[in-house]
Amino acid sequence: MSVLIKGGRIVTAADDYVGDVFIDNGTVSLLGESLDVSADKVIDAAGKYVIPGAIDPHTHIEMYFGGTTTCDDFTSGTVSAAFGGTTTLIDFCMQTPGDTFAQALEKYFEKIDRCKPVIDVGFHIGVTDLHTGGTLEDLAKLPAEGVTSYKLFMAYKGAVMVDDDTLFRTMETAADTGAIVMVHAENGDAIDVIVKRAVAEGKKEPIWHARTRPMETEAEATNRAVQLARVAGCRLYVVHVSCQPAVEPIALAREKGWDVWGETCTQYLFIDDSALDQPGFEGGKYVYTPPPRPKDQQAHLWKALGSDVLSVLSTDHCPFKWPEQKGINGEEFQVIPNGGPGIENRLHMLHHFGVREGRISMNRFVELTSTNVAKLFGLYPRKGTIAPGSDADIVVWDPEKALTISASTHHSNVNYNLFEGTQVRGAPDVVLVRGQVIVEGDELVGKPGDGEFVKRARVGEELLPAGRVATPA
Ligand code: URP
Ligand code: ZN
Ligand code: ZN
Repeated sequence: MSVLIKGGRIVTAADDYVGDVFIDNGTVSLLGESLDVSADKVIDAAGKYVIPGAIDPHTHIEMYFGGTTTCDDFTSGTVSAAFGGTTTLIDFCMQTPGDTFAQALEKYFEKIDRCKPVIDVGFHIGVTDLHTGGTLEDLAKLPAEGVTSYKLFMAYKGAVMVDDDTLFRTMETAADTGAIVMVHAENGDAIDVIVKRAVAEGKKEPIWHARTRPMETEAEATNRAVQLARVAGCRLYVVHVSCQPAVEPIALAREKGWDVWGETCTQYLFIDDSALDQPGFEGGKYVYTPPPRPKDQQAHLWKALGSDVLSVLSTDHCPFKWPEQKGINGEEFQVIPNGGPGIENRLHMLHHFGVREGRISMNRFVELTSTNVAKLFGLYPRKGTIAPGSDADIVVWDPEKALTISASTHHSNVNYNLFEGTQVRGAPDVVLVRGQVIVEGDELVGKPGDGEFVKRARVGEELLPAGRVATPA
């Protein structure tokens, strides 16, 4: 099957030019002006952007958490992602404490087999237990299987939180195996003390979720992870950075040339702590972690995204239905399952408020949502760019298409939207995964099973077409 995308403005992290893209057998074959080729399908992209498919490195699909399971499976979650222009996601394969890593992966492969994805999927391994199930030896074997990132939680005491012993040993293993270490950086011990005190004082409302997780607890854990990764000698990636105090240790490390990277998520750019402070249980929708911060933090995050102190925008899509799942344990702030939805609207929001409003360039838009993710997580240059030989994961983006973001227009199973009622201009027109049309206009053309599991390369390696791995000189 061949596809010709004609006359679009092709934008990658580095380039911006008008031309044609010829796709043959799933990969980009030719790029140029007015290509003289015939194709099985021709897409007119005049007046549109042609960009690499977005990659979301932070999702929680069908994950058991907080006493319930996130409400998207790998079919509904990836359909929703595709409608937003995301063509690959990397989900957290969580080790249930006591399980081996092989068992954890087996359970996640079963999930993608039962509910097949429409876009490509990779896994990070979520390390929760090195004492009774997982071993460092087994962890060290995973990069050879294409699972090249280890994720640890420094928060959620009594659930998935790890101690510094586990964190540091995992970092040392990552340094040896070429994996990248990802951390949820908050001081879970200190937060536990503050939460218990607030509960004892009778505090109940969702706003106490923010009041019991001070920004300094995020900053402290971020700095601890940065220093420990330096000692261990591994690459560190800090997920969902929510505020300037946590940006600062990342900025300092990067100034020194350390291998430290940070992401923020769409919600931290737009939602502030006042969302938690609403009558009744409405605020429960916004109980995600780290919590929404004071509004003045948003300008700091935009600045960090613009200056490459933060290098990725992800979603942390962790959808629970409201009120039934959010209220499953009661409505007190400390028992609400933590997580918010957002897999579909990342590009809409970043394009409208970032590119259209002049905060970032179109190249930076591509870099933050696709190229940097591909480079950091072992997918580049197979994904994250439009170049001969790369997977034809491509979005034809209509910069004028108007959309009201809403639970009634998104495709996730979740029944609310963090950005409900926001009006944007700019949305995908056509979405292709490895040359196959998945979304065209408002229609789902792809089907479950069109997405594949992707094995990723290690730090310092490149992923080439057909999954070959190379080490650049
Ligand atoms: O509240 C959140 N973010 N839930 C998902 C788990 C995590 O911390 O990423
Ligand atoms: Zn987290
Ligand atoms: Zn998360």
